[in-house]
Amino acid sequence: MKRNAPAFRVALLKILSALLLISCGQKQEAGAPSQPEQASPEQDKGIGRVREIHLGPIDPALAEKGKVIFTAKCSACHKLEGRYAGPPLGTVTKRRTPEFILNMILNPSEMTQKDPVAQRLLAEYLTPMTPQNLSEDDAKAVLEYLRQAAQ
Ligand code: HEC
Repeated sequence: MKRNAPAFRVALLKILSALLLISCGQKQEAGAPSQPEQASPEQDKGIGRVREIHLGPIDPALAEKGKVIFTAKCSACHKLEGRYAGPPLGTVTKRRTPEFILNMILNPSEMTQKDPVAQRLLAEYLTPMTPQNLSEDDAKAVLEYLRQAAQ
């Protein structure tokens, strides 16, 4: 019997992501085997030059700058609410670490190849996020806009 291999693999990945989501939603029982090799989306800092950042209160002027950049460079694929070519970003700061978001903006190709959460997103959206060549400062401005949007 021959299977349609790529479609089969995508289906399998979708099932695995669904299982992962379900298992992340449940509190681990004491004594239950843990899976340290599986990075939890809540802690995943992603892969790239951004290792650790500390955020202060939201800076409205920086968020305004980020909004302009978002409209120019991200809105072709992302909306705040609702799926588009990419995931909705209005509450992304609630499901991802700031480091993950910055690394995704600055280093999307490596992220979708090596980071387990980003790999799962690529399997779901089937379109690679193309690098937008933002400076780190511009990426931080977009992050500020997304933090403000999530309030
Ligand atoms: C060509 C379309 C495209 C553009 C332009 C784009 N993205 Fe993406 N983005 C995607 C896709 C598709 C994904 C899901 C991962 C994948 O398939 O590569 C994604 C994933 C993400 C994620 C992770 C979302 C999550 O749920 O964890 C973030 C954050 C993100 N993009 C931010 C941005 C920002 C900010 C910009 C603008 C600087 C941008 N993207 C530009 C298509 C795009």
